[in-house]
Amino acid sequence: MPDDRISAFSLTEQVAALRPELFDAWNRVLDSGQYILGPEVDAFEKELQSLLGVPAVGVANGSDALLLALQALQIGPGDEVVTTPFTFFATAGSIARLGAVPVFADVDPQTFNVDPEQALSRVAPRTRAILPVHLFGLMADTLRLVEGFAGPVVEDAAQAILGSQEGRLAGTVGDVGCFSLYPTKNLGAFGDGGFVTSRRPELSDAIRRLRVHGATAKYYHVELGMNSRLDALQAAFLRVKLRHLQDWTDKRVALADRYRSGLAAHGLQDRVRPQMVPPGFSAVFHQFTVRAERRDALWERLLAHGMGSTVYYPHPLHLLPAFSHLGYREGSLPVAEELCREALSLPLYPELRFEQVDRVVDVMAAFYRGTA
Ligand SMILES: Cc1ncc(COP(=O)(O)O)c(C=O)c1O
Repeated sequence: MPDDRISAFSLTEQVAALRPELFDAWNRVLDSGQYILGPEVDAFEKELQSLLGVPAVGVANGSDALLLALQALQIGPGDEVVTTPFTFFATAGSIARLGAVPVFADVDPQTFNVDPEQALSRVAPRTRAILPVHLFGLMADTLRLVEGFAGPVVEDAAQAILGSQEGRLAGTVGDVGCFSLYPTKNLGAFGDGGFVTSRRPELSDAIRRLRVHGATAKYYHVELGMNSRLDALQAAFLRVKLRHLQDWTDKRVALADRYRSGLAAHGLQDRVRPQMVPPGFSAVFHQFTVRAERRDALWERLLAHGMGSTVYYPHPLHLLPAFSHLGYREGSLPVAEELCREALSLPLYPELRFEQVDRVVDVMAAFYRGTA
């Protein structure tokens, strides 16, 4: 009997297709004798630079990318950084780990990204940066933030490689861009990885130092940094995958279109509202996420039909125990709180087939008709 389950995410087909090239990369690194940084990482950074148009510095993961970017901007105790509560923990965790205070601004109910006017209204004398997140592959309105705030804008572009606003790529609009190469990301390693982009050479230089304990030469340390280096093996694998990124991105966009037209054809637009991509923005659909009426029941129904879907994110950051000392309460940021109750990310990865998308939408339609 054919297995007609549909996973929320899968790398199986991608790995099978790339296996010979990945083994070549593996053999090359084994023979090189250099396993951390070195020529593979240098080559990967150069390829990223030609893709994105700004220098890129490889680091150990996306969380470190954020931490190092903020450290390069000399953000520390007593400083405030305005950010979104509807994101992965690392966004605000990196701010707090440096002794700075995350100041949460509510999100837009349609784009799910930080509302730029709310973010700008939270700017106060101690504000040292604004940290928007390009959630699910859709850029936050970064041009508005850059225009409205005189200080640095740090883009959490972990989910948005190749996303753009007015033709400007994620990670190149603000002062610094932070990317994750976690395996499920649009460009994912076979382990942890990350990189930082910046159009300001002094920031790229600082991150290059900070990733090797603040060293400018071997055993010569000019400041406190950390060990946050990208492995040569991951860089070699990522160079193989980078060649396919545009094609995979096009497939994600086509699958998202298929979901949208399927949901509309079933007349579900009032009950299932996909993340809105405003004019001028180009999203890369790290996730296809909807606001769904009776979200938890729908989630279970899909699961009962062998269809995986995921709740990103079940808790807004401002209500998590780790940030209880900041004094936010239920109702402080109502849109983010509502999204945590309604958001559901449907199956999406480049190898997913239209026919599978149609089946997911059919189950959703039947659920709302009450017959699934
Ligand atoms: C929005 C966002 N920021 C930061 C991170 C942290 O990246 P990493 O898991 O590579 O540390 C992730 C990914 O997990 C993310 O999705």
